[in-house]
Amino acid sequence: MKNTREKKLVVVTGASSGIGLALVKALLLQGYAVLGIANNFEKAGLSHPDFRSRSINLADLDTLEESLSALLSEIDMPLKALINNAGIGRMGFLEQLSVKDIRLVMDINLTSQVIVTKAFLPLLKKQREGDILFMGSEAALKGARQGSIYCASKFAVRGFSQALREECGKSGVRVTLINPGAVRTPFFDKLQFEPGLAPENAIEPEDIASAVSMVLAARQGTVFDEITLSPRNHVWKKKDA
Ligand SMILES: NC(=O)c1ccc[n+]([C@@H]2O[C@H](COP(=O)([O-])OP(=O)(O)OC[C@H]3O[C@@H](n4cnc5c(N)ncnc54)[C@H](OP(=O)(O)O)[C@@H]3O)[C@@H](O)[C@H]2O)c1
Repeated sequence: MKNTREKKLVVVTGASSGIGLALVKALLLQGYAVLGIANNFEKAGLSHPDFRSRSINLADLDTLEESLSALLSEIDMPLKALINNAGIGRMGFLEQLSVKDIRLVMDINLTSQVIVTKAFLPLLKKQREGDILFMGSEAALKGARQGSIYCASKFAVRGFSQALREECGKSGVRVTLINPGAVRTPFFDKLQFEPGLAPENAIEPEDIASAVSMVLAARQGTVFDEITLSPRNHVWKKKDA
């Protein structure tokens, strides 16, 4: 990636779909270069001179550090922000969840984010400025039935982000957690429920992009610790069997 126009780079995980894709589009419009990470970008159908995508399976924790160090060596422009957004949901009563799914949720929603953050942190600290954002959830704030493992992963991300904020303040790096309620995205494709159909039953991914833009634009001396967004009228709809 060549620093031809003095651009700043934002790295977005989970950039191929939903919230991440909306973030990429908004950031490109704002003049950032964007490096997206996800499994598969075919569905995103996004082509832009300032957008690069890297297919990395964040669940493959054994190879993740190596993949990230290759990616870091390609970066030759200032890093404005790392947005840890990739995540999955596996919902159900605890006895219904397989150990495989439990591990997958924790690996993707928590451990991969810790490893990605650890990889990018030295660069951000060296610059003495930059933002690290995490996509938490309302599930990071309150436990809910059939959400035990998802909530556990998001509560953990919240604890991690709070501690990291304390660790990073003196070095100029800001840490922000975004906690959305239901957002209308393909996240629900594999779940048995989804937000109600009315516009006020779900947040749109572009609303999250607006919140992120506000975080990035804030005066350097100020940090948004957490932003919680909710649909005005929370309604969940069971999908037909
Ligand atoms: N939708 C909601 O209601 C809601 C509410 C609160 C918080 N969130 C959080 O928001 C974040 C984004 O979710 P979304 O709603 O935008 O869902 P989404 O449309 O399903 O997008 C999830 C993204 O994560 C990526 N991802 C998943 N597993 C991955 C892996 N193993 N390796 C690399 N990338 C992986 C996906 O890439 P591939 O498709 O290429 O695998 C995709 O780009 C998640 O952390 C989610 O927990 C969502």
